Amino acid sequence: MIGGVMRIFVTGGAGYIGSVCVEELLKYGHEVLVFDNMEEGHAEAVLAPATLTVGDLNNFAQVNAAVGEFRPDAVIHFAGKALVGESMTNPYIYYQTNVMGGTNLLEAAVRAGCKKFVFSSSCATYGPPEKIPMDERIPQKPINPYGHSKLIFEQVLKWYEKVHGVVFTALRYFNAAGASVANGEDRKVETHLIPIVLDVALGRREFIGIFGENYATPDGTCIRDYVHVIDLAEAHIKALDRTVSGFFNLGSGDGYSVRQVIDVARKVTGHAIPAKIMPPRPGDPPRLVASANRARMDLGWKPRFNKLPTIIETAWAWRQAHPKGYRSQ
Ligand code: UFG
Repeated sequence: MIGGVMRIFVTGGAGYIGSVCVEELLKYGHEVLVFDNMEEGHAEAVLAPATLTVGDLNNFAQVNAAVGEFRPDAVIHFAGKALVGESMTNPYIYYQTNVMGGTNLLEAAVRAGCKKFVFSSSCATYGPPEKIPMDERIPQKPINPYGHSKLIFEQVLKWYEKVHGVVFTALRYFNAAGASVANGEDRKVETHLIPIVLDVALGRREFIGIFGENYATPDGTCIRDYVHVIDLAEAHIKALDRTVSGFFNLGSGDGYSVRQVIDVARKVTGHAIPAKIMPPRPGDPPRLVASANRARMDLGWKPRFNKLPTIIETAWAWRQAHPKGYRSQ
């Protein structure tokens, strides 16, 4: 099936990163079924001819029926809980959805004879690194239940490889950002830096709170590696061709502090974007920056939008076109 048209089962395909990946899959002619519980998904984000099945990964019978009926050639698993802060107050839903829900899906895939699995993992599986940039060989010592739940599921994947011959690709995203023309960030409760900063520029919030200014970084605020959502999507397309399992970091390789992100957004939007210092957010590592050399070499990944101003410009274009998110349509 290498290089050919495939049937792809995409969990979380109505969400932010998943919907952009579905757009890319459709460009390559793949047949796509999206499985999403619509907690954070938007039906409008699933572009035709992809189809949407509403269902819950935590319900094995439901996911097993959906996978069994569709008989995919590959599963791409985006669905999951993904907020560091929330995981520090409610770890249960992280283990339930990210570990048990993911295992339900993996088991259903194997029972349907599908052995190709692409998983949205995270740089949060590493915890604060001893060296920057971070390659895939550094120890994984997560400092929040979110990162830990993603790490456990990576380990589940390794056992399914041994026991059932699953070929998996675990993609450890750094900070997904930016938008396609059709799809962008629209969550029930927004906690991510860039969309909140852009909300201030749109006049929907008064200021951006900076969570801590005493970290061991040059300007005291946390440093992250922002990677464009279309580039992330492209890595999944490459992963479909793989015949051996692997783990890959996906980041731009550039670190930006919270203050630097706000400054770039000021330039892109032409808005003053007032900022206020707030207490640090529990569970935040001071600095996360990728080395994505392995993804470039072994996956053949070529990020195209890896400059922060470009990333913020695309996010800003989407936000201006959808000031109330998908409800603006
Ligand atoms: N931040 C603020 N103010 C805000 C929001 C965020 O200062 O209002 C700071 C955070 O403290 C952090 C940085 O901006 O230092 C980025 O925060 P985000 O919430 O945008 O992203 P995170 O780094 O916390 O987490 C995101 C995803 C995770 C993923 C992680 C990888 O939510 O799923 O990136 O680093 F694992």
